[in-house]
Amino acid sequence: MHIPPNLIEALAEANYVAVLTGAGISAESGIKTFRDPDGLWAKFNPMELASIDGFMSNPQRVWEWYQYRREIINKAQPNPGHYALVEFEKIFPQFTLITQNVDRLHQKAGSSNVIELHGNILENHCFSCKEPYHGETDLPEGHIPRCPICGGMIRPSVVWFGEALPIDALEQAEQAAMECDVFFSIGTSAEVYPAANLPYVAKRSGAILVEVNPNPTVLSPYVDYKISLSSAVGLPKIVEALKELKK
Ligand code: APR
Repeated sequence: MHIPPNLIEALAEANYVAVLTGAGISAESGIKTFRDPDGLWAKFNPMELASIDGFMSNPQRVWEWYQYRREIINKAQPNPGHYALVEFEKIFPQFTLITQNVDRLHQKAGSSNVIELHGNILENHCFSCKEPYHGETDLPEGHIPRCPICGGMIRPSVVWFGEALPIDALEQAEQAAMECDVFFSIGTSAEVYPAANLPYVAKRSGAILVEVNPNPTVLSPYVDYKISLSSAVGLPKIVEALKELKK
């Protein structure tokens, strides 16, 4: 599949480009997505592992599941899709990268000021007093780190189902969606709110809406351009075509 020339022309004239990424952009780094047939939620129950109730009813199981995910994520490397977004940041006069991912691969690739709507898996804080926790996490099986300040249980700093998103991150993301000329939805099923609302905000605000995803999603009928390629293939193609045009 080639990249539609009029998308490249629109991008060449764009002043402000905003991007929302989801688990799909990390798939080619070996990190499972959530809702693909072989995704995490096909094997694990999100309500047991990614919710406050799940943590309260079995903190040990939740803690160990995140330790298991951290092991995979710590070994993962950014892929050409992440690196293409680092190029986007250099190409466009104004650029905002919003992610639902907690793996910090965008930062590892060199993207700066990434808006993390769902927190990140590499940091921890106290479930009770919310203080950030920088202590030991690699404890023997059956143990969960305790807060040195209040003795509360330590939890990963990711946003769980039913929890509010960090308000400043969400506001910055909404601002970007309202002001950008082109909005990319990349590697996300566009099903989880409020992140899933951003493409519609962008469209309503007059932005060109582009989806980069090998599969159809609920958003697909509303986009101006559907790039049915993986992000590791599609995004470098867009960068290449843009550089070609600017020659
Ligand atoms: N390139 C681009 N997209 C891909 C690729 C790829 N190589 N592989 C899969 N995808 C697409 C899938 O087609 C799917 O539409 O990525 C999307 C992944 O969707 P989800 O697994 O639902 O992940 P995401 O949209 O990020 O989930 C949103 O849900 O579970 C919560 O908090 C979690 O942040 C997550 C949120």
